[in-house]
Order: sequence, then structure tokens, then C-alpha cells
Amino acid sequence: MPGLRSLRNRLAVIFALIVAGAIGTIYLSVTPRLEASLTSQRLNGLVGDSKRYLPTVARVLPANDPQHVTVDAKAPKAIREEQAAEGKRRVAQSKRNRDRREKATRRAADASGAEVIIYTVAALGPFAVADSKPGDGVSQNDVRELAVQAIKTHREVTRTGPTSAGRQVMVAQPTFDEEHHVTGAAVFADSLSDVQDNVGLIRRQVLISGGIALFIAVLAGYLVARALAARVKRLEAAARKVAAGDFSQPIRADADDELGRLAAAFDDMQNQLARLDRARKQFIASASHELRTPIFSLGGFLELLADEDLDEETRRQFLDQIRGQVDRMRNLSVELLDLSRLEAGALELRPEPTDVGQLAREVAAEFTPAATRHRSEVTLDLRPDPIELECDPERVAQVLRILLDNALRHTPPGTGVRVSANRSNGHVRLEVSDRGLGIKHQNMPHIFEPFFTSNEEAQGAGLGLAIARELADRMHGRLTVRSIPGATTFSLVLPS
Ligand SMILES: Nc1ncnc2c1ncn2[C@@H]1O[C@H](COP(=O)(O)OP(=O)(O)OP(=O)(O)O)[C@@H](O)[C@H]1O
Ligand SMILES: [Mg+2]
Repeated sequence: MPGLRSLRNRLAVIFALIVAGAIGTIYLSVTPRLEASLTSQRLNGLVGDSKRYLPTVARVLPANDPQHVTVDAKAPKAIREEQAAEGKRRVAQSKRNRDRREKATRRAADASGAEVIIYTVAALGPFAVADSKPGDGVSQNDVRELAVQAIKTHREVTRTGPTSAGRQVMVAQPTFDEEHHVTGAAVFADSLSDVQDNVGLIRRQVLISGGIALFIAVLAGYLVARALAARVKRLEAAARKVAAGDFSQPIRADADDELGRLAAAFDDMQNQLARLDRARKQFIASASHELRTPIFSLGGFLELLADEDLDEETRRQFLDQIRGQVDRMRNLSVELLDLSRLEAGALELRPEPTDVGQLAREVAAEFTPAATRHRSEVTLDLRPDPIELECDPERVAQVLRILLDNALRHTPPGTGVRVSANRSNGHVRLEVSDRGLGIKHQNMPHIFEPFFTSNEEAQGAGLGLAIARELADRMHGRLTVRSIPGATTFSLVLPS
């Protein structure tokens, strides 16, 4: 469904479903249970009442009224009169009996608050002899079967169900005489209309308040989701801008919640991307500048060499210059390649067991000619026993070369250079120190950045320390520097 694709609508629908589910559960499961429990309470109450007030009606059962007397028309007058008098007496007796039964029934009904109908046993089956609400309430047909059952089983019988007077709870209690013969049954019936009214009221209330809750939930869900969606939209717009390369607009965190924190993280990411973008542009600009300079200079020398009147000495000087520029370009291209490989993570390390002391000795030896030219001496500060380390010897040597090259290139002639290697606290520490003028305080934060170089005469590209630090990182080590005038020390610390 297209409408449900938006977070806003989806949240509103989910809110609505949850509330509707809760209301449906209350309506369909709680209210029937409430009704059942109220009904059973009412039935239990009626059972208790029926037991309590049964003796009131048991006294007037069985209802054995005197038989009617028929006056024999053919009999002598004296006998007829006697028969008539007996008939009257019996009628009066029956009426008294009926009054007693009705009174007892009414009393039991008034005390229990239920309708009471009493049945007596007779040859043709039980029949009702008194009803506390004749012509009203439950009909005798409704409860006759209950009375019959109570009389037959000698036990209390209960029933809940529809009658001609609506839903009722009914209890039939058998009655007994002194010899424990069953004499009849009393049926107590109580209307459930108030229970139904109450449950109906609760149902209506549930539906009405449920409807209101549903409306509020949908509205609140919609509004909350709309507010959230607006904030997400703002982030989306910002993301698209960044994707298009526009880092200019800061993304402000509008609240200290999850979305606010996302915005803050997004802002950090944008700043980082902007920094990287600047660095990339600067890197390309610096790299092309570094390449352009020697190429122009080479072009110039080639033109000069084309002059046929050149004497041999000048030509040789030009060729030396050309060789120097070509060397510079070769170094630069190797360094650029190294750096880009390192930054892309494409440089593969080949660790092997290495004696780092021996390695330092060999690299230092490579620099003997350069040191001599510089009128300096490279001294070694090493213990005689080997310093074994699992590392890529080529890469460690590369770092040492970069450091030694700097120590000889960025210091005045005659500086002593010291190379040391030792193991301490689970680390191997390689150090290259010189007694040159040191690194200027303001340059300290930048010397490890690509293309940072302070020494134009030395004609470096400023990539050496950037490469050395990347290499140290790749070997899980650290490259640090301490420098004061007269003492500069670079330390490469590798885990062992
Ligand atoms: N031992 C040192 N004494 C004084 N300054 C140093 C020393 N080592 C490095 N520096 C400073 O740090 C800067 C950066 O050194 P880095 O090796 O990265 O570049 P570079 O030597 O100028 O050029 P490249 O190494 O690419 O040929 C140098 O230009 C220099 O100013
Ligand atoms: Mg260098």
C-alpha cells in the first residue's frame, strides 16, 4: 500500500492497531468474564438464601388439603345439611391452608429478595401451590422441571438461563418431613437484569472510552510521527547535500534524543568528510606541484643542452642537474605510490623473525657515504645480543632510512647521528637521534602531514615522515618525536 510507505502513516496505524487490540481484548474477553463472575456470585448468594429460608416454606409442605365434599342430593335432609356443613368447613380449611402457604412463600421471598414458588408432591406429579409473584416474574412452566428434578434427586438443583421474565438464576431445594420423605420443593428465582444492565453499561463505557482513546492514539501517533518524519527529512536533505559534495551547512542537533544524537554524529561525519576532501584536494595540488617543478626544470635543461656551442664542462654540469631532477622525480613517484598504497590499506606486510639490532646496523652502514659527505658520523648504540622480533624487515628498514635521511638532511654538517635499539616492557624501541638545531615548535604538529616540508633547499617532497608514521601504524607500533635545539630523537616503538 503506497500510504503505508511513510513512517508517519505506519506509526499512526500501529498506534491504532495497538489501542484497538487492547479495547477488543477488554470487550471480548474481560466483559464476558465479568458477567460470568457476577452471575456466579449471584447464584451462590441465592443458593445461600434458599438454604437459609427453606425452613420457612418447608413447614407448609406437603400441601395435603382436605378433599371436597359432594352433597348427595338423594340423601335425607339432615345428612345433606351435615354434608354441606362439612363441605364448608373443608373449604374454609383449604383456604386457611392456602393463606398459610402464600404467607410463608411471601415471607421467604421478602427475606431473600427472590421470587419463591413452592411445589408439592402429588400422585399426578408435583404441582405449584404458591407463588410469591403470581402472574409476574418467572412462570411456573419455567421452573417446574427444576422442581421435579429436585424432588426426584432429593438434591439441590441450580440453573441459569432465559425464562419468560428474562435471564434468571434459579435454585430448587427439596423439602422433607420428619421421616425424611420428600414433601415438595421450593424454587427461588432471581432476575439477572441488573447484572446485564451493569455489564451492558461497562461495555458501552469501554466502547466509548475506547473510541476516544483510539482517536487520541491515532492523532497523537500521527502528530508524533509527523514531527519525527520532519526531523528525519531534514537529515535526509542534509545527507543529499553532503552526497552532492556540499559540506558548507552545519547540521545542528535539535534535541538530546536519538535523532538529535544522530544529527550530531552526522555533523561529525560531515566535518570529517570535509576535512578529508580538503586534504585530498591539497594532496593532489601538492603532488602535481611537486611533479611539475622538476619537469619544468628538466625541460629547461634539455633546451639548454640542445645548444651546440656548449662546452663540455657546462654540458656535464647540466647532465648532473638533470640526473638530480630525475632522481628526485623517481623518489617522489615511489613515495607517492607507497603513501597511496598505505592509505588504501593495500600494502602487504611480510612479517618474519628478524634481529632488529642487525637490521639497524645494516641500514646505518648504507648511510656511511652520505654521513661522510655531511661530515658526520653515524654511531650505533646496541647490545651485542640479538633483538629478535617478528616483523617485516623491509618496512622497518624503510622507516629507519627515512629517519636517518632526515637526520642528515635537516641538520647542519657535522651533527653526530646515533642509532639505538633495545627491548623493554614487551616493546622494541628503535631510536634515531641527532644533535641538529631541532624542529621548530610551530612545525611540530605538522611534520607528519604529507607534503609538509620546511627545508626547501633539501628538496624533499615532505612525504618521508607521513610514510614512516603510516608504516608504524600498520605494524601496530608508534612513531614519536622529542625535539629541543641540539637534541632531536625519533622513536619507533613496536610491540613484540
Ligand atoms: N631530524 C630532523 N631535524 C630537524 N627537522 C626535521 C628532522 N626530521 C624531520 N624534520 C622536519 O620535518 C619535515 C618533514 O620531514 P619529512 O621527512 O616528512 O619530509 P622531507 O624530509 O622534507 O621530505 P622527503 O622526506 O619527502 O624527502 C622536514 O621538512 C623537516 O623540517
Ligand atoms: Mg625526509
